[in-house]
Formats: sequence, C-alpha cells, structure tokens
Amino acid sequence: MNATPKALEAEYAELAIQTQQETQALATETTLLNPRFYTTDFDEMDRIDVTPVRAEWDKLLDQMRSDPNKGHFKKNAEWDADWDGMEPKLKREFIDFLVSSCTAEFSGCVLYKEMKRRGNNPDICELFNFMARDEARHAGFINDALREAGVAVNLGFLTKAKKYTYFRPKFIYYATYLSEKIGYARYITIFRHLEANPDQRFHPIFKWFREWCNDEFSHGEAFALLMRTDPKLTQSFANKLWIRFFLTAVYSTMYVRDHARPEFHKALGVDIEWYDQEVFRKTSTIARQVFPVELDIDHKRWLPNLRRMRDAFGLMDEGKKQGGLAGWIKAKRGAVIAAATFVALYTIPVIHREPPKNVRLEPAY
Ligand SMILES: [Fe+2]
Ligand SMILES: [Fe+2]
Repeated sequence: MNATPKALEAEYAELAIQTQQETQALATETTLLNPRFYTTDFDEMDRIDVTPVRAEWDKLLDQMRSDPNKGHFKKNAEWDADWDGMEPKLKREFIDFLVSSCTAEFSGCVLYKEMKRRGNNPDICELFNFMARDEARHAGFINDALREAGVAVNLGFLTKAKKYTYFRPKFIYYATYLSEKIGYARYITIFRHLEANPDQRFHPIFKWFREWCNDEFSHGEAFALLMRTDPKLTQSFANKLWIRFFLTAVYSTMYVRDHARPEFHKALGVDIEWYDQEVFRKTSTIARQVFPVELDIDHKRWLPNLRRMRDAFGLMDEGKKQGGLAGWIKAKRGAVIAAATFVALYTIPVIHREPPKNVRLEPAY
C-alpha cells in the first residue's frame, strides 16, 4: 500500500530530525580524530611581551585591522548549490566534511574569544579579537551551507556540550600554528585543483576558499610571531621533540580522517594520498619559518606507516561496531597497532632546519 502524503511528510520530518541529531552528535563527539575544543592558561598567554617582534607584529596587526575579507563571506550569484542533485553517499561524506570543518573553525573562535575576554594585554587582546572575528565568519558561512542541506550545527549548544582539552600555552602554539597553516594548505590546494578542473566543483563553497585561506595564513603568522618572542619555545631539546610529536600527530590524523571520505575526494577528482602529501609538503615548507625540524615525508617508512595507521583505525572502528568480546579484542588490536605505528612514524629521522632571521611570510601558493 502506498503511503499517504501526510504519512510521507511525517516520515520526511522524522528523517530530517534524525539527520539533524546525527549532525549535532557528530560535531559534539570527542574522539581521537574529531576536531577538539581547547582551553589553556590564559594568564600565562596574557603575559607575552611582543617587543622582540614589534615591527613585524605591527605590520601584521595593521593588515588584520584593515579587515580585507570583511565582505567576503556572503553568498552571491556565484552560489549555485544543488543538494538534491547530489549522490547520497557523496552527500553524506560532504556533510561530514562540512561539520568537521565547521567544528574546527568554531573551536578556534571559542579559544580566541576566551583569550580576548580574559586578557589585559592590549597586543594579545587585539590579535585574538581579530582571529575570533574571522573564525566566527568561517564557521557561520559553513553552517549556512549546511542549513541548505537541512542540517546545521547548533554552535551555542556545542560551546556547552563539547569537552574541552587543556593544553599548556606552548602546546596551543604548536597545535594551533600547525592547524592554521595546514588549514591554509588544505583550502588552497583544493582551490587550485578546482580552478584547473571547474567541472569537478560539485558545490559553490569551494569558490570562497582562496580569500578564506588567507585568513588562516595570517592567523598562522601570528602564532609564528608569538613563538618567536621566546627562543626556548622552538630551540630547546625537549621542545624540538614536542614539535616533532605535534607534526606527526597532526599529519597522521589528517591522513586517517581524509581516507574516511573516499566519495568526497573522488567527486573532487583528487587522489587522497597525493592530496595529503601535497598539503604536508606545503605546510612543512611554510613551517620552516619557525620550526627547526621538518618531517621527512619522502622517507621510505612514511607512507607505508600512514597506510598502516589508516588500517589500524579501520580495525578499531570495525571492532566498535561489531561489539561483544570479539569486537572488543579487534578494537584493542587496532589500538595497539596504531600506537606502534605512531612510534614508527615518530622515529623516522627528521630534517633539521635553521629558521630564518625574519619570520614573516606571504601566502605564495
Ligand atoms: Fe578559519
Ligand atoms: Fe584560522
């Protein structure tokens, strides 16, 4: 028997609620791979004295004050989204991509805003205010795109429901610097690829990526300058090991996460491994401005271990879904392999670099 239009309508409404709940759950969940929310010792950060980098600092802040992307994050005639014409599997992965990007953008916004709120140091407060402004725009723009698909992340709810991870300020510098620069490299690589292959641009949001990633680039510049105010942060033996740790963790997480979205990358016409290596290469080249060590992504142990890491996460996932004792054992086995693989990646000899006298860079890709 055919369902009446009323029944169908109710079914669709039910489905929409389910998808909405799933989206919210996706954004709220804290796993090893999901974007996290951070908190830190704001008083320590407030004590930073930017005098050693004053000239470069003022130039960067002038540029942020001029707000070059003020009018950028608005839909215009170029916006031609077609969610209904999207293949369901692609749609699912694309939504997952947008939710994770929105969460990451918003996580930056929350951290930066909190620093601005708690600080008294005018240099620091001004910087964090500009960065919070940008991230709020980014998250809002993605959420707008999601809303057209009938799903959106409740950002207010997220602020309360999400678990916060505490990082000491120096870890915030390493992790946030990297995520800003990697964000730039990811957005610009997709943008350039679609510029050359416009037929693969299956959603208009990618057209906004170039100006967008310039924001991320300057946020990264700010963290590079903050790190330069204290040479110990990048020069001490222990901190070099930490930088190496963060590079390995951030790169391998990105590799595993991207491989979970095969349909999304297929639609873009991008080979995931090529894309990831390209993003690592750009990020590593940029990071020479401040990091004294660089991961050797052409080392013969690099890619095989990343693939092993991806499979280990696959095993953990399968185990969790399977449940029961067998599932538990499978998940544990995955976790053990992942940990061993991380050690294998971490111990690949690094390339030592001497950071240049002048820190500042301009986006060049
Ligand atoms: Fe952003
Ligand atoms: Fe950013």
